[in-house]
Amino acid sequence: MSGRELFSEERSAEVVAASFAGTPDPRLKQVMNSLVQHLHAFVKDVELTEEEWGSAIDFLTRTGHMSNEVRQEFILLSDVLGVSMLVETINHRTGGTSTESTVLGPFHMVESPVRELGADIALDGKGTPCLVSGQVTGPHGEPLAGASVDVWQTNEDGFYDVQQPGIQPEGNLRGMFRTDEQGSFWFRSVVPRYYPIPDDGPVGQLLAATGRHPNRPAHLHFIVAAPGYRPVTTHVFVADSPYLDSDAVFGVKESLVRPVPEVDDPARAAEAGLPNPFRTLTFDLSLLRADQAPPAASPAGAQPTVVRGVAAEAV
Ligand code: BEZ
Ligand code: FE
Repeated sequence: MSGRELFSEERSAEVVAASFAGTPDPRLKQVMNSLVQHLHAFVKDVELTEEEWGSAIDFLTRTGHMSNEVRQEFILLSDVLGVSMLVETINHRTGGTSTESTVLGPFHMVESPVRELGADIALDGKGTPCLVSGQVTGPHGEPLAGASVDVWQTNEDGFYDVQQPGIQPEGNLRGMFRTDEQGSFWFRSVVPRYYPIPDDGPVGQLLAATGRHPNRPAHLHFIVAAPGYRPVTTHVFVADSPYLDSDAVFGVKESLVRPVPEVDDPARAAEAGLPNPFRTLTFDLSLLRADQAPPAASPAGAQPTVVRGVAAEAV
């Protein structure tokens, strides 16, 4: 026996992890060690064939080739594997004390136009009119005046403005608002529709090969920020939308689903500047203070975040 620890099927993970033992950055060392353990366990678990390994390399190569400044196929891959949502959820724990976050998505690629409270963000006037309103508060319910409320959504056909240049006006269904003295915001819009994530690349092929659909349920995106508070990147989901139970990127959290009821009231419609009847969507948001320690991971047995009917811990 030479005492050398050479590569073997049984000891592969330990041998490779040991090669990183001299990593100066302790966090990088921890991450590489864990990555090697899990990766080797996976390869052993499925007894990966050489052909499958080749297909995986080809898939990742095509994923890279599909990516550019406007299309990030690796993020999309992370999205459909639930990794984006897991990283998001771990890094923005609320412990039920503030508005939950969800994925940013790839369509916040332009700055939202600054608009006055009450403005109509449906610049082309197409769709089912909807009055969107809410209040932004801090952890004790204190109204946050002057908070920024950045919103973007699809039209009634399920497309963002950037996906339909020349068809939708620039800045359609986007707006940057500031809350009033009571922390309130409101604007006129239309009811968004469900839509497919970009599925014309390797990620779309993966979804098709595994019998998964590419759709996301109807939602409005929000980024809400106020000085001294933690910003939140989130959505509000339309309660009667298809795909709430099977979002392609796992972004739905029960606390973010709201009804969008119809209001048939000519006086209220006139007051809101909308045709009668119209729909209403109320979404109040609560922010944690920036100096508040983020809640720790829920201990076993504690109430977990509910991802649309499924306990997150069980996913
Ligand atoms: C979105 O909601 O805009 C989105 C999120 C993840 C992937 C694709 C789209
Ligand atoms: Fe979206």
